[in-house]
Amino acid sequence: MTHRITLIPGDGIGPEVTNATVRILEATGVKFEWETFMAGAEAFEKYKEYIPKDLNDSIERTRVGLKGPVTTPIGGGFASINVELRKRFELYANFRPIRNLPHIPTRYPDVDLIIIRENTEGLYSGIEHEVVPGVVESLKIITAKASTRIARFAFDYARKHKRKKIHAIHKANIMKLSDGLFLRCSRAVAKEYPEITYGEHIVDNTCMQLVMNPYQYDMLVLENLYGDIISDLCAAFVGGLGLVPGANFGDACAIFEAVHGSAPDIAGKDLANPTALLRSALLMLRHLGEREAALRVRTALERVYRTRDRLTRDVGGKAGTSQFADAVIEEMNSAPVAEPAGEASVS
Ligand code: NAI
Repeated sequence: MTHRITLIPGDGIGPEVTNATVRILEATGVKFEWETFMAGAEAFEKYKEYIPKDLNDSIERTRVGLKGPVTTPIGGGFASINVELRKRFELYANFRPIRNLPHIPTRYPDVDLIIIRENTEGLYSGIEHEVVPGVVESLKIITAKASTRIARFAFDYARKHKRKKIHAIHKANIMKLSDGLFLRCSRAVAKEYPEITYGEHIVDNTCMQLVMNPYQYDMLVLENLYGDIISDLCAAFVGGLGLVPGANFGDACAIFEAVHGSAPDIAGKDLANPTALLRSALLMLRHLGEREAALRVRTALERVYRTRDRLTRDVGGKAGTSQFADAVIEEMNSAPVAEPAGEASVS
């Protein structure tokens, strides 16, 4: 069977990490047909559209996307392509597992934390306007529909994967109506899952608690902006943004992308670590039912991580992005596959 995938390499380090990931995926022997599209500033230059119609149609057709990061201009310019894609395709659940890779010295060993971020509303939507010169308004929209939907996604995942505890993260002491609604919806859903312990923490305290002791949490469910910030914080526990995968799920389609951005500071220098996008692609392989291929890549990846000199610089190695990909492919071709411990998956 051939899997048709919409591929958005993105910009900055996007094309480098995407190219490395695609090479590794193709080396599994699984058949892919890639429908490749630009998005963002590059696309606008060529097609006068930030999300070209053909890209839109492709996602509607394939229902599965693999996406590199796309730069969003700061303090002006066009609105985020990432936000628009998530809204347009109702990719309401952002799934971000935070787990260590073996052999990487990190701030915390054996972290196993799942972040479920609401993806379609909240302050992160960037609905802003200037009321009068010198005064701007930014709207934080929270709805019962989206809050209930994300809570249900989190609890369903917990039940299916035998997770024990979910904390809803909020600032309802100050935003009593908006975060208050988010909490009320989370509580109502929690009641339907009595086997899962439900807790609530205020977001600022959560940051401190996470740094003091990340092991006290099992799963976090958060509105959009808190999820964005806390995901990067948690990435630091396990070695940084070069390592942490992500996936955006809706009822009809899914787009797999790393947590990190386009990293303009290292773009085009063959320095980027493709591990985060590769781990996102592993989530994609499982979503496609290609569990054996996912296992082969994961085993090879973990073997590469045993030897420092084959790693990229962000994790203490010397290899470039493409050398790293070569090393994973080499391991995949030589390694007999042994079942490693369970990996996060939503399939
Ligand atoms: P960033 O994630 O691009 O970079 C933060 C730091 O992490 C930088 O020092 C960078 O070098 C490092 N880093 C990130 N990914 C890495 C990798 N794979 N390997 C090694 N080091 C890595 O965050 P920043 O600088 O805040 O954002 C840059 C641009 O990316 C912005 O325009 C932002 O809007 C966009 N962005 C896009 C995302 C997406 O497309 N999903 C997500 C986050 C940011």
